[in-house]
Amino acid sequence: MGRRAFITGVTGQDGSYLAELLLAKGYEVHGLIRRSSTFNTSRIDHLYRDAHDEGTKLFLHYGDLSDGSRLVTLLDRIQPQEVYNLAAQSHVRVSFDEPEYTGDSTGLGAIRLLEAIRMVGLHCKYYQASSSEMFGATPPPQNEQTVFWPRSPYGAAKVYAYWVTRNYREGYGMFAVNGILFNHESPRRGETFVTRKITRAAARIAAGEQDELYMGNLDAVRDWGYAPEYVEAMWRMLQHDEPTDYVVATGTRFTVRDFLATSFERVGLDWEKYVKFDERYLRPTEVDALIGDASKARDVLGWTPKVHAPDLARLMVDADVAALNHVGSPWIDTPVWG
Ligand code: NAP
Ligand code: GDD
Repeated sequence: MGRRAFITGVTGQDGSYLAELLLAKGYEVHGLIRRSSTFNTSRIDHLYRDAHDEGTKLFLHYGDLSDGSRLVTLLDRIQPQEVYNLAAQSHVRVSFDEPEYTGDSTGLGAIRLLEAIRMVGLHCKYYQASSSEMFGATPPPQNEQTVFWPRSPYGAAKVYAYWVTRNYREGYGMFAVNGILFNHESPRRGETFVTRKITRAAARIAAGEQDELYMGNLDAVRDWGYAPEYVEAMWRMLQHDEPTDYVVATGTRFTVRDFLATSFERVGLDWEKYVKFDERYLRPTEVDALIGDASKARDVLGWTPKVHAPDLARLMVDADVAALNHVGSPWIDTPVWG
């Protein structure tokens, strides 16, 4: 029998790349999507075929992490061998505006899914999308032993999800793992995360479609990697014999200011002439510096990143320039694994 996977958050950046990866490996992929009044499937439209077509391998199901009984029904019907929980209210700044909803979807959502697996009696492997945001104020470098000190409702919700994942592993013997992923980006990144906000603005300003760019804290340090490489690490975690948790990162230090300079330089502009400050983009508590030590993922899973922040900025700018010119971009249109 072929392998079958269930992905929550399949319409997001990571979900779309993971669906591509698993389909290329011959999996039957089932994705959870939220009903909305407009289509929210643009990142996976190129993968979708009508369910009546022969050979269809991607199936989409309406549902929500707030709806536990729906998760039970779906898991019972689909019987996946691998479950990837990528769904979340994933924006840190927004989590200060919507703390309760973030706790419900990003935190409690994980235990609803774990409990649904347990109730159905599935013997599947479970991946939890944990985050470097859990380290918060603990200084870098951060690895699997680093103490958590979350600085946002989002970070706190992810810490809860992390611990219930470990608890179901230790308490019920479930193959449940946390991938503690540092920031990872791509041309499919949501437009309000800082990297995509910058690369999109650089392309638009160069094309004369935008005059200025309002930003918050430019001093923040992040370890930015390339999303398609990170979903490969997720898959490898579930193929290993032992369930255990891993940090996934590049180990490269880059500031928001560095990302601005590299991106604007790509289109021949000096960023300092266009960027203005707006305090709306500050957070009540900031995470100053995240730089990961992914030695364990390298040694145990054989995973190493190839794309580092400067190349990432350039490929994202190129994709945004191509999109503005309505020409195809190899970074957007071609399934990376296809
Ligand atoms: P994303 O682009 O924001 O995608 C989030 C996905 O979750 C979307 O498919 C969204 O559906 C879905 N979703 C949100 N709330 C839901 C709910 N209540 N029920 C069901 N689905 C819901 O996020 P991403 O960048 O791909 O990240 C994937 C996961 O990894 C997230 O859990 C994120 O917190 C975590 N993570 C991300 C990073 C990173 O740097 N990207 C790093 C560490 C951890 P709609 O399309 O309908 O909104
Ligand atoms: N979004 C945004 N917009 N961030 C800004 C801006 C702005 O205008 N100006 C400065 N920043 C700074 C933020 O204060 C933060 O320090 C940094 O840029 C990165 O912000 P985001 O891109 O929004 O990402 P994040 O690091 O807060 O969270 C992302 O990475 C986490 C992993 O560490 C998200 O993808 C989370 O879901 C993920 O868990």
